[in-house]
Amino acid sequence: MTAAPPPAGRAAVVCTIGAALPPRTVSNADLTARLDTTDDWIRSRTGIIRRHVAGADLSTTDLAVQAATQALADVEPTTVKALVVATTTPDRCCPATAPAVATRLGLTGIPAFDVAAGCTGFLYALATAAGLIAAGTARTALVVGADRLATLPAPGDRTTVPLFGDGAGAVVLRCGSADEAGVLGPVVLGSDGTGADLIRASRPGALHMDGADVFRHAIDRMSTASRQAATAVGWDLTDVDRLVPHQANSRITSFVARQLGIPDGHRLGNIAEVGNTGAASIPLLLAQAVADGRLGPGHRTLLTAFGAGLTWGAVALTWPDLSPTRLLKGAERDR
Ligand code: UT7
Repeated sequence: MTAAPPPAGRAAVVCTIGAALPPRTVSNADLTARLDTTDDWIRSRTGIIRRHVAGADLSTTDLAVQAATQALADVEPTTVKALVVATTTPDRCCPATAPAVATRLGLTGIPAFDVAAGCTGFLYALATAAGLIAAGTARTALVVGADRLATLPAPGDRTTVPLFGDGAGAVVLRCGSADEAGVLGPVVLGSDGTGADLIRASRPGALHMDGADVFRHAIDRMSTASRQAATAVGWDLTDVDRLVPHQANSRITSFVARQLGIPDGHRLGNIAEVGNTGAASIPLLLAQAVADGRLGPGHRTLLTAFGAGLTWGAVALTWPDLSPTRLLKGAERDR
């Protein structure tokens, strides 16, 4: 499904980004010591070399606060008027993660809630926050994707343990006009509950995933959603400078790029170092790519994700200039 364009002057514009990773890394070699697997199998089938895993002292809320704090570094925090947290691994079933995150950021009182849409959660949260901006509920909104997916597999399950890592990413969206760099195109979203059993977990430590089936669905859904998101902003796929796919498996993202006819050099990735970090995957990759120069102002950028639900989504935007001067101007405009 593709959203209608926002009212004039109420488009959602990306204006900052932040990310957080737990300090501890677990390498493939660490895993081979306790699982019936090999470094070669994990690298060749998934592209993963290591992942960051949070200890018991680092919660999903902590990771979300760290990423949000980085995203707010050049913005006066009190300009933020709404918070949406995407997560599949909240610290508790109830209450939601977002109100606690808001309070720790000094934002008690703003609307704050969670969105659960598996690894597509960040795109669902972006769409939701853009909707709050379009509706006039908030002129500036913080969107966080935070997950501790390493808690989900059964510790001895070689088919899932190697895949997942922990992390968080965040962006600030502000109200702007439709012709600005950084404005989100219509966010394409979808779901299919007939695939609900393909990735499921009744509790931490009890993840079941039908990997091969999920693999096929992920390629089809991300490719189709990407085409729709590009069309929605009037781009040919040949216009795309940067493809930013959810980091589920480097073979999946490579197939998606190939199906879309996007050169492999335009496909961004960080799965080798972080694994599949769920709702954190896209903002974490964006933050790292900005920091190391792979993503910069003017790049026509296509984000796409797929996950449990089944859910999928995509959105196109021209990457903005995130320099602090511009951010402060944007924040001032929102006062
Ligand atoms: O974030 C969105 C949700 N997740 C995804 O999108 C993940 C999608 N799926 C995948 O990435 C891949 O399907 C996996 C990486 C999970 C699995 O790769 P695959 O190439 O599809 O392998 P497979 O499931 O077809 O298994 C092939 C073989 C099996 O052995 P047999 O039955 O052929 O004897 C597995 O038991 O590989 C075996 N295997 C392993 N062997 C060594 C599975 N995991 C491992 C392992 N080490 N860690």
